[in-house]
Amino acid sequence: MGYCILAIETSCDETAAAVIAERKVLSNVIASQQEHHRWGGIVPEIASRAHLERMWFIAEQALEDAGIELDQLDAIACTVQPGLAGSLFVGANFAKGLALGLRRACVPVHHLEGHILSGLLADPALELPAVVLVASGGHTLLVLLESVAQYRVLGSTRDDAAGEAFDKIATLLGLDYPGGPALEQLARSGTPDIPLPRPLLSDPRFEFSFSGLKTAVRRYLAEHPPQSDADRARIAASAQAAIVEVLVAKTLRAAEMFGVRSIVLAGGVAANQMLQQSVRSSAQRGSIRVIVPDRQYALDNAAMIGLVAHIKLELRGTDAYRMLAFSIDPTPWRMHRHGSNKHARYEDATFSL
Ligand code: KG4
Ligand code: ZN
Repeated sequence: MGYCILAIETSCDETAAAVIAERKVLSNVIASQQEHHRWGGIVPEIASRAHLERMWFIAEQALEDAGIELDQLDAIACTVQPGLAGSLFVGANFAKGLALGLRRACVPVHHLEGHILSGLLADPALELPAVVLVASGGHTLLVLLESVAQYRVLGSTRDDAAGEAFDKIATLLGLDYPGGPALEQLARSGTPDIPLPRPLLSDPRFEFSFSGLKTAVRRYLAEHPPQSDADRARIAASAQAAIVEVLVAKTLRAAEMFGVRSIVLAGGVAANQMLQQSVRSSAQRGSIRVIVPDRQYALDNAAMIGLVAHIKLELRGTDAYRMLAFSIDPTPWRMHRHGSNKHARYEDATFSL
């Protein structure tokens, strides 16, 4: 069953809209907010206002690029969790208003499920089960994608996300935000020979922890203040090597443990060339295919949200999504599924779309 969906993504600082029809992307428009750069990080209040200002313009652009009129849509989809509360409100309210006006279904989508399925945008014939590493500025998650509608969370980060570690270490080195790409660039001219910790590397679980690495870099900088660009490049290369080594080791260990044929690298950090090369060369030995979605599907985008919505509609039909009674939830995961304890664990839990 094919549906035509306008999907909206506003969980963080990208205002995005996409049109998906029969699981295919007809358009994918992403406007990254530049307003935050001068603050060295995302300012939630500024993000909500910027989404409010340009949401309709971006949605209109997505419809125009796709050559789709409003009345051809079967449903509207929007990200409802996790993310910045104010930003989620703007996108969800926009989607509900449009759905109400058009008398269409409105499908709430979990942002991380979008990243988890983004490999299917890159390769619709993706061989499952697959191990998916979602590494972005907000999340680090290792997932076993068992089928398009079912996945198991193998582990996540106890503290900082991988992208956050790149960004914070980049800031320590005086690089501009967001620091990941700048740190990678600087690392190209350095040798990774400074001994930095590889947090939880030998821990058999699939959990990550990156805040200790950031502290180690801070301490190193205090003891050995860099005298030249070459010194800074060495530190950048060493920090990158530490982050990448842990990500690659756990991803490959999961792939081997579950005997998967595919690995997907999703989220903004997947753009890192050292990560890609390192996963590719390790996976080659086990004849595992590595899929890295295009940048437009790896960064926060609405196409991945539309794909999740499409699969939900295939499972339940549009009538299941006509209530418009859902809310948003900024908390990182569906903790409520595991009791009211805020620190309840979701590792090793299986989820269905
Ligand atoms: O997925 P994304 O666009 O947004 C979030 O949902 O967070 O990811 C952005 C993150 C930032 O932390 C950024 O520094 C990191 O991805 N990033 C990189 C690279 N490109 C982006 N980290 C390391 N190397 C890169 N080339
Ligand atoms: Zn994201």
